[in-house]
Amino acid sequence: MRTLDDLLAEGVAGRRVLVRADLNVPLRDGVITDDGRIRAVLPTLRALTEAGAKVVVCSHLGRPKGAPDPKYSLRPVAERLQQSLPGQVSFATDTVGESASAAVAALNNGDLVLLENLRFNPGETSKDEAERSAFAAQLAAFADVYVDDAFGAVHRKHASVYDVPKLLPHYAGGLVLREVEVLRRLTGDPERPYVVVLGGAKVSDKLGVISNLLPRVDKLLIGGGMCFTLLAASGHDVGDSLLESDQIDTCKQLLAEASEKLVLPVDVVVARDISEDAETQVVEAAGGIQAGWKGLDIGPRTVELFAEHLRQARTVFWNGPMGVFEVAPFAAGTRAVAEAVSAVNGLSVVGGGDSAAAVRTLGLDEAAFGHISTGGGASLEYLEGKTLPGLAALED
Ligand code: 3PG
Repeated sequence: MRTLDDLLAEGVAGRRVLVRADLNVPLRDGVITDDGRIRAVLPTLRALTEAGAKVVVCSHLGRPKGAPDPKYSLRPVAERLQQSLPGQVSFATDTVGESASAAVAALNNGDLVLLENLRFNPGETSKDEAERSAFAAQLAAFADVYVDDAFGAVHRKHASVYDVPKLLPHYAGGLVLREVEVLRRLTGDPERPYVVVLGGAKVSDKLGVISNLLPRVDKLLIGGGMCFTLLAASGHDVGDSLLESDQIDTCKQLLAEASEKLVLPVDVVVARDISEDAETQVVEAAGGIQAGWKGLDIGPRTVELFAEHLRQARTVFWNGPMGVFEVAPFAAGTRAVAEAVSAVNGLSVVGGGDSAAAVRTLGLDEAAFGHISTGGGASLEYLEGKTLPGLAALED
């Protein structure tokens, strides 16, 4: 796999470099609430602009449906890039149309243009290979070489990730290389005990990960909205908590096969509604949750149980919040797990998305963690041992 360093060694002054970045940052009313993904790709953008390249950056943001949608515009990200890079930064109001063509043509050495959201174009995510290739060809026409630094998107078989590298000389960016190096340590021969903590809303999204990880880990701790379907499968009442009834049988099977490795909450924080001033109670999981109440965080005994497993661990991977951490009464579980993960005596990896955002929005020290990934789905799929289309394309 050729790398950004190889490209820099070749020399990039005056060459047009298309960089696929993952600038899919959370926005509230057009304001970036967590800029972790922007900061993570800045070293690559700086290296290229300082070396005199004409840099064309592309990314997705959110999941628009193949057409422009102002809610998902990358403009706020362009403004943020402008503040962070010394050179000229412009923004194209389309991805491969007139605005983009003009902005690319106007680039001087060391300038950068950010193209509008890739997913405003149906070709980016199309399952139809010809449609994807046609869009990839339009993107590739803007550049002489391609750098993929969008680790968070390498699990997507999308035009900018999978098809463009077939059309241009391609290189792996520094962020992609760093991410892969850390995750390789987890899939290789991790120091044991190896403990994985999973949270997040839907168990259906994570069943594949759970069954693939179970043979590799010593303990799998489960919290977040997804734990309630597993608790229901263990015979506990879960009241009005998030429940995927159609997954109960699969969860029962999982529990029967791996009950000694799976660690579920023993108590939960419940409330009738999700609000800053919600009335909360702590209930024992085995005692059940009453109708009208929903579980919204793990309870203090579970925090202690999870913390004990994490104290013993020598390798930890954590993905997914333990509760609705964005709302103060339900943040304690996620905060405590994050603190316990940061204190691990060994390698601790935070797997992207919400859990990485939680580390930052809860004000925890990022430096205390071994690695905070920029990829949620991508890091999980890597750990599952799946072939990631974006990485495979860079290998070719
Ligand atoms: C992510 O947020 O995990 C990446 O940016 C990929 O986004 P996606 O799940 O919408 O493809």
